[in-house]
Amino acid sequence: MTDFLLNRQPVTLAKTDPDLTVLDYLREQAHLTGTKEGCASGDCGACTVVVGELTDQGMRYRSLNSCITFVHSLHGKQLLTVEHLEQAGALHPVQQALVEHHGSQCGFCTPGFVMSLFALYHSDVAPSREAVLTALSGNLCRCTGYRPIIDAGMALLEQRHGDAFSAQIADIEAELRSLETPVLPEETKTDHVVGFWQPRTRQDLAKARAQAPDARYSAGSTDLALEKTQRLANLNALIDLSQVAELNHISVDDKGLHIGAAVSYTDLEPALLADYPEAREWLERLGSRPIRNRGTLGGNLGNASPIGDTPPLLIALGATVTLSNGQTERTLPVSELITGYRKTVLADDEWIDTIHLPRRQPGSQMRAYKISKRFEDDISTVCVVFYLETDSNDTVTCLRAGFGGLAATPLVLADWQDQLIGQHWPTVAVDAISRTLADALAPIDDVRASARYRIQVTANLFRRFHLETTQPDTRTRVHTHGGLDHA
Ligand SMILES: Cc1cc2nc3c(=O)[nH]c(=O)nc-3n(C[C@H](O)[C@H](O)[C@H](O)COP(=O)(O)OP(=O)(O)OC[C@H]3O[C@@H](n4cnc5c(N)ncnc54)[C@H](O)[C@@H]3O)c2cc1C
Ligand code: FES
Ligand code: FES
Repeated sequence: MTDFLLNRQPVTLAKTDPDLTVLDYLREQAHLTGTKEGCASGDCGACTVVVGELTDQGMRYRSLNSCITFVHSLHGKQLLTVEHLEQAGALHPVQQALVEHHGSQCGFCTPGFVMSLFALYHSDVAPSREAVLTALSGNLCRCTGYRPIIDAGMALLEQRHGDAFSAQIADIEAELRSLETPVLPEETKTDHVVGFWQPRTRQDLAKARAQAPDARYSAGSTDLALEKTQRLANLNALIDLSQVAELNHISVDDKGLHIGAAVSYTDLEPALLADYPEAREWLERLGSRPIRNRGTLGGNLGNASPIGDTPPLLIALGATVTLSNGQTERTLPVSELITGYRKTVLADDEWIDTIHLPRRQPGSQMRAYKISKRFEDDISTVCVVFYLETDSNDTVTCLRAGFGGLAATPLVLADWQDQLIGQHWPTVAVDAISRTLADALAPIDDVRASARYRIQVTANLFRRFHLETTQPDTRTRVHTHGGLDHA
């Protein structure tokens, strides 16, 4: 049984396919066709909706792609659609701003833009052009052009005075609290929602796993749902990890940052960037805002794709990962998790539980480079992350690199790295080392790039890393507290 609020209407779903997407539910069952289908793969934003959730800090609204979100994951939440924004005959300020700035022509993309801007309106970000661009990073428009839409977003942020929704928050919170309490795996299985488990604790997750050994884990479903929408697979047994408390927790101690596998990228952002501010661009280019609102490290690692962007970063930063089955756990370097194309060392009863990022060493430097055709919301052609520690004489004491898009698995080139240890970093033979890097690579040609291009660009990225970390005007050193000191 899945209970949620559809706008302000309580809905109970029973006997519904586990892999029914929010978009199909809205258009085919709720007959709310304002939400559009463009790509059905999370790329265009036509299907964007907003989901409201009760958190410790109160109500939180975030955008997501309804085409790749399973409807049962809405349990206990509020689903807001474009039909609900106009209230008492008045357009919502977002809609009004788009009208006033001529932000719509054919209108097909407009509901998606409206919902992304609605989520921005209800966020606490400071007004800036960057904030608008980030909020709209998952929305494509083929005919209006982005300038008027961005203008509308800017105007909106400058005049945020609260809307009809802000006035209703207390009522909505009460309505959400009154929804049926979360179902446990046993009840779920024997009751109505056959094949969809939404455990709330690690212990319940283990029970669900035991009940459904063949079920697929679903965290943000930003990879998994594409198996249904693009490959027409039946995902008839799903274990939703997004509500497991232990997997949604981030903690920091002397050893580092411990990130639950189901923490979304949006929730990870402040903690990651506090220690590794140079990762900002890399993170902002991972998918789009709606993708980062749902996508997780556990899903990226579990997917074991050669073009996943997180393994290169995690490998370069020396991260480890804890796998668990609820009773026993084991921790291994991220570089040992992925064993082949979409293959991991996970046993049948295990899941990825926690990712551990070591604390930053004083004086260390890192850069995360992503090469793709589109700035955001695009798959990497190559993703390379370098991490460097030097001593007070600028001698290399540690160099780690993670390479994505260059082989069937994320690549570690231990011999290539090791040759740099003990060398004086500012005067290393960059040409020769770039050549040895190029020689160590054997990528494939595919639609994104030729092998030659990938090799050349990777060698160039090493040169860039060296340049950025040795040229006085670009050099930045990071202290353990994460603050930047421009030398
Ligand atoms: C439009 C779009 C843009 C994207 N852009 C990028 C990008 O720029 N860079 C990038 O790297 N990826 C990108 N992705 C892919 C995807 O968003 C990421 O891989 C994301 O991290 C997946 O996380 P998720 O929680 O959504 O995984 P899910 O889809 O829920 O799961 C993915 C796989 O991992 C398994 N799994 C999930 N959690 C666990 C766990 N804890 N333990 C074991 N197995 C688990 C699932 O069973 C499934 O097989 C994009 C996807 C889309 C649709
Ligand atoms: S339909 Fe294109 S993102 Fe969902
Ligand atoms: S208004 Fe036509 S696609 Fe955007």
